[in-house]
Amino acid sequence: MNAPALSPVSPEALYQKLSPLDEVGYGMEACERYSREIAEILRLKDERKAIILAHNYQRPEIFEVADFIGDSLELARKAKEVRDAEIIVFCGVHFMAETAKVMNPGRMVLIPDLRAGCSLADAVTAEALADRKAELKEIYPDLKVVSYVNCTADVKALSDACCTSANAVKVVNAIDSENILFLPDQNLANYVQGQTSKRIISWDGNCYVHHQITPAEVNRVKSSIPGIKVIAHPECRKDVLTLADAVLSTSAMVRYARESEADKFLIVTECGLSDRLLMEVPEKHFYKTCKLCRFMKMITLSGTLDSLRNLRYEIELPEDVRDGARRALDRMLELSA
Ligand code: 13P
Ligand code: SF4
Repeated sequence: MNAPALSPVSPEALYQKLSPLDEVGYGMEACERYSREIAEILRLKDERKAIILAHNYQRPEIFEVADFIGDSLELARKAKEVRDAEIIVFCGVHFMAETAKVMNPGRMVLIPDLRAGCSLADAVTAEALADRKAELKEIYPDLKVVSYVNCTADVKALSDACCTSANAVKVVNAIDSENILFLPDQNLANYVQGQTSKRIISWDGNCYVHHQITPAEVNRVKSSIPGIKVIAHPECRKDVLTLADAVLSTSAMVRYARESEADKFLIVTECGLSDRLLMEVPEKHFYKTCKLCRFMKMITLSGTLDSLRNLRYEIELPEDVRDGARRALDRMLELSA
């Protein structure tokens, strides 16, 4: 999806557009600052021949400067296609910026804040994976490793294929093995297990944002708003997913909400997605579980401006890690084509 046409936004227009989200964080003073920063980011993007890729969970003011907004799969594909720009500024978390570098090693890839990590990526190291893989190969000689893209590039390099929330079931069903070590998300692994006859051996990581959402919270909204459609991300726990009308990646949620005949939705994922929905599907009503990913929210407009101005922080990866991760990511694209 291409972001709306980019032009410096007047503080008044930005204020009107964003005020329903948060009257305090998006008051006149903040919007005046955003407006100046947006204008400077757009100027620098041009000067530096840079492109900004942003994940769906980013702050709404980041959407204003993004050339492309999407889920992990769309962003990986988009990064691969970048030709004209010399620099990719990645507004998302570290593993996503690494993926952009792997897909397009000839471009400089910048992330505005190095603290933008991910609890899933932190749940597995290359060493731990190598040990577990060797152990399981003794029991299941045909074992294949499918790693959710929410992991570091050196973990990807030890995997047979990657997957995202948009194609996990497809990749698992298409890979040539009946026994899959699936990592690092236990909730996504459980979800995939429910959709395949293959044996899924799960890692024990989870997303700290989605894992804290409870069935009680979802039921409370369901019972007080008749007819509401519940859309959940597969990183949620199984007892939450069983309450959902649809289990989808973040971009698939946007398409579902746009195309569905329903007009009320409970969005069971990180809060940022409801901001995108509010901006792009203003005629419908969205309710959210108010769970915020502190890693995603470390990316700010001022950080993005600093990144473009001072060319930091550059993503660098050893060649062997880059090549190994590229093989696993390309396999994902092949298997899910
Ligand atoms: P999507 O690929 O569905 O955007 O999910 C990424 C993510 O980090 C969800 O927490
Ligand atoms: Fe990682 Fe969860 Fe944040 Fe997504 S929402 S980036 S999985 S910590």
